[in-house]
Amino acid sequence: MDFTGKKVIVTGSTRGIGKTIAVEFAKRGATVVITGRNKNTAEIVAQNIRNEFNVNAYGVELDFSKDDITPALKEIEEKIDTPDILVNNAGLTKDTLFIRMKDEDWNTVLQVNLTGTFKITQYFAKKMIKKKYGKIINISSIIGFIGNVGQVNYATSKAGLIGFTKSLAKELAPRNINVNAVAPGFIETDMTNELPADIKEKYLEQIPMKKFGKPEDVANAVLFLASDLANYITGETIHINGGMY
Ligand SMILES: NC(=O)c1ccc[n+]([C@@H]2O[C@H](COP(=O)([O-])OP(=O)(O)OC[C@H]3O[C@@H](n4cnc5c(N)ncnc54)[C@H](OP(=O)(O)O)[C@@H]3O)[C@@H](O)[C@H]2O)c1
Repeated sequence: MDFTGKKVIVTGSTRGIGKTIAVEFAKRGATVVITGRNKNTAEIVAQNIRNEFNVNAYGVELDFSKDDITPALKEIEEKIDTPDILVNNAGLTKDTLFIRMKDEDWNTVLQVNLTGTFKITQYFAKKMIKKKYGKIINISSIIGFIGNVGQVNYATSKAGLIGFTKSLAKELAPRNINVNAVAPGFIETDMTNELPADIKEKYLEQIPMKKFGKPEDVANAVLFLASDLANYITGETIHINGGMY
């Protein structure tokens, strides 16, 4: 797969799944925009990508928990104008049992995981429509499909992304823009490393392949959906979970 000449935004790409997705695009010649809550961290990741793969890479501070993210979106626009590919990956968890869940736990997760995707996608979809080209890929989660104790906020945000994907796919299909999702299961990153050992063991028991996924497993599906091989696929979700669901 070759992405030379393609411009790709990957939100939340300073580490974990997002960083791996950005690296895999850069390896294949794409210009990439790296985003995270800290400008320096994003710039360091971008610099390493530039040095290693000899492509354009930009680091931008983008914090979806802020009320106004327009300056960050404008900065990205100044750097790459219209993206060909937008990967909505930024996400966080604030796990707690439902009856103890504070407004803040609910609001932050919904704002970052769901509203953030709405805002950045609306901003750049307008430009993709003008260009008559675009691939939008949303990173949902198995939890949006099966639910989980302590994750009512997170599961709601990730299930919401599926409705978002299916509806937007229908609106943008006549404009030659594909909108799809991937739903990872248990992938080894900072997000899952925080979990206690006994919880990880319980997850492992539920995975028929008896192993956790790697960020590359998710990136591979994203590359496919962003490529011409997936031109007739829209509104779809690819599950990446070792048979767990
Ligand atoms: N790991 C899994 O098992 C798994 C399973 C299913 C779905 N997912 C989803 O996959 C995506 C990536 O997960 P991951 O495991 O790679 O997570 P991670 O290692 O915790 O990385 C999260 C990324 O999101 C960014 N981020 C966090 N809060 C943000 C905010 N308020 N505004 C903007 N960016 C923010 C982080 O950047 P900074 O910290 O630099 O700001 C970081 O780059 C998430 O949407 C997650 O829900 C993960």
